[in-house]
Amino acid sequence: MKRIAVLTGGGDAPGLNAVIRAVVKTAVNVYGCDVLGVRNGYDGFLAPDGIMPLDLGAVRGILPRGGTILGTANRGNPFARKTMRAGQEFVEDISDEIIAAIWTLALDALIVIGGDGTLRIAMELGEKGMPVIGVPKTIDNDVGGTETAFGFDTALMIATEAFDRLHTTAEAHHRVMVLELMGRDAGFIALHAGVAGGADVILIPEIPFRNESIVKKIRKRVEHGSHFSLVSVSEGAKPQGGQPVYSRGGDQVYVPRLGGISQKVGEYIEGQGFETRVTVLGHLQRGGSPTAFDRWLATRYGAAAVRAAAAGHFGQMVSLQNGRVVDVPLAEALAVPKRVDTNGDAVWTARSMGIAFGDE
Ligand code: F6P
Repeated sequence: MKRIAVLTGGGDAPGLNAVIRAVVKTAVNVYGCDVLGVRNGYDGFLAPDGIMPLDLGAVRGILPRGGTILGTANRGNPFARKTMRAGQEFVEDISDEIIAAIWTLALDALIVIGGDGTLRIAMELGEKGMPVIGVPKTIDNDVGGTETAFGFDTALMIATEAFDRLHTTAEAHHRVMVLELMGRDAGFIALHAGVAGGADVILIPEIPFRNESIVKKIRKRVEHGSHFSLVSVSEGAKPQGGQPVYSRGGDQVYVPRLGGISQKVGEYIEGQGFETRVTVLGHLQRGGSPTAFDRWLATRYGAAAVRAAAAGHFGQMVSLQNGRVVDVPLAEALAVPKRVDTNGDAVWTARSMGIAFGDE
């Protein structure tokens, strides 16, 4: 193995730089191999200055840094690139251009750090013969085939701290505090932070809710002398028989943007006579320094990805299974997206704490 490349794709997550650092250190220290960085996701292969050399100096000091030194993009699938020409939308497959670039660079392996979408592109490149290795990244924790991706723990810590802060002001003013958290299709952040932060109601995409049920819980708390409540809401939560709320529609470049469900829930609660405030935590969950757990996991994933590349385990994704980092086929990991098990231990635990999911 003489030369490998690494790219980061999709929304950023705390720990991306820790993976890049571990890839470079392992490649150089263990295998004496050169590393190239691809800027801004797959787009870097086609951009004039899209490739940068990564030596030990380039990754010095980046372990605790949020973001990614390579840049990222959560649009631009090379298998279905959308472009507008003369006011008309065209979808083109430009994957062969990426493949040509990989050949030109004489890469022995391409390490792709990303979530569901970015890893799916990697898998498809792998099916066309490219030597790809995946590393699961997501704050939403929705990538299958692994117990967890890096980034989730940090987002969870930020969300839990937000609940701790909302708790004191909610209690002081006898208010209901609604906190909207990220989680497009999977409610792990809202569920785990809700439990860790003492929420009274948790609304997640996997369990459609009824407004009446939320208010029933808040009213019951008041009857028992608790004149404040905390409501944890995934951005992708939806009412029974209804749809998620979007703040912006999709277009030729961007996917539709979720946002606004907490405002609707808050308005309903206030309409029932409970003073309510709404907070949207947004990208605070994605920015900043990773937790020790995420740095540890990201470092293990980065090192393991290079080990897998050296062993020729292409088309695989590094994954955490029973505390060990192992390789699983990308196809297997992506076959079933990870969602909250509505009959599983986590939801059962939350219900045992008296937390309502709005379906009672
Ligand atoms: O996939 C991670 C995520 O944080 C989702 O929960 C959220 O819907 C999305 O990213 C928002 O991404 P962006 O604002 O970068 O488009």
